Amino acid sequence: MMNAKDYMDREAKYGAHNYHPLPVVLEKGEGIYVWDTDGKKYFDFLSAYSAINQGHCHPKILKAMSDQMHKLTLTSRAFYNNVLGEWEEYITKLFGYDKVLPMNSGAEADETALKLCRRWGYKVKNIPENQAKIIVCDGNFHGRTITIISMSTDPDSYKDFGPFTPGFVKIQYNDLEALEKELADPNVAAFLAEPIQGEAGVYVPEDGYLKKAYDLCKKHNVLFVADEVQTGIARTGKMLACDHEGVRPDILILGKAVSGGAMPVSCVLADDEIMLTIQPGEHGSTYGGNPIACKVSIAALEVIKEENLIENAKVLGEYFRKRLNEFKHPMVKLVRGKGLLNAVVIEPKDGKTAWDVCLKLRDNGLLAKPTHDHIIRFAPPLVINKEEIDKAIEIIIETIKSF
Ligand SMILES: Cc1ncc(COP(=O)(O)O)c(C=O)c1O
Repeated sequence: MMNAKDYMDREAKYGAHNYHPLPVVLEKGEGIYVWDTDGKKYFDFLSAYSAINQGHCHPKILKAMSDQMHKLTLTSRAFYNNVLGEWEEYITKLFGYDKVLPMNSGAEADETALKLCRRWGYKVKNIPENQAKIIVCDGNFHGRTITIISMSTDPDSYKDFGPFTPGFVKIQYNDLEALEKELADPNVAAFLAEPIQGEAGVYVPEDGYLKKAYDLCKKHNVLFVADEVQTGIARTGKMLACDHEGVRPDILILGKAVSGGAMPVSCVLADDEIMLTIQPGEHGSTYGGNPIACKVSIAALEVIKEENLIENAKVLGEYFRKRLNEFKHPMVKLVRGKGLLNAVVIEPKDGKTAWDVCLKLRDNGLLAKPTHDHIIRFAPPLVINKEEIDKAIEIIIETIKSF
């Protein structure tokens, strides 16, 4: 019989060391809970970085997956299948765009959006060949490809991975003046931003920032592109975080919870003027838009509506922040977030850091992970109820008190 240490040692021996997981080995998940290999039960307060908004192993999503996987798993896009169009119609109507382009990972969807921005820049805006620029924000996180890390301002992401893809202009997040200055350049095709910066530590911009940034982009004939891979699909108490400010991005990037964590599904939504700048043979993915992904994604999006997860994230998110803001402790420097995407900024005490807090939380039955050393993100599945969040809040408060 292998124990937890054996599992971890095996990963360390045979797997690349590109992650530093919290020492806990999971083998089962259901709703808001996960269990480790010793049978211990935990609240999952990470939700696989907001991919599991619908809860672990949601029966409706699993049924859609299993029904489809016995019929047809993959055709590639060399042929039509009878499911892709159903999903395309469903998701474009749901989000109000002319077209959708399916991929798998969030990074691929971001890459797709970048290609669309450049294409639109050349074909519609008439930017001279190879001169298109895209404005991005300090602290961004859009994934791990070479082009995406070329946009990064985090040395952990980019250092010693150069040379980098050119064509990006970096400005401070939440800085409209800097945006307006860069938008004056006629070679700018797009402005790409996360409506809340998730990986950076749940940085919520000032109220009105997104709307004003959108309006500035419109004034300068520049595409406003929202990466809602982490913030989308009800996480922040609206279907999209951009909905808080009534902003409809020109290009919308979705991933993670668009499949409820059952498999990698991502996509880009846009209208014809943008999407039809890419023609057959110019972009694609073997697995993108496969029949299982399509059925899983429809089910995952239906669950959001059927189980009222938008409202639940809004109400319980406000409650969570209220409770943690009332709790005064020298290690709790700041609580911030929107809906059920929240973070606590930890002030180290007696050499104890956010990592130590997360280890103790684990011992007490709640899983969360630090981001950037001193920030703990709290993002449970959106199917959590009041009684459960009360229990989780008690664990968080009692754990921090123990330091
Ligand atoms: C905003 C955002 N974009 C893109 C990604 C990349 O997604 P993936 O890990 O599926 O490539 C992430 C992942 O955390 C993300 O938070």
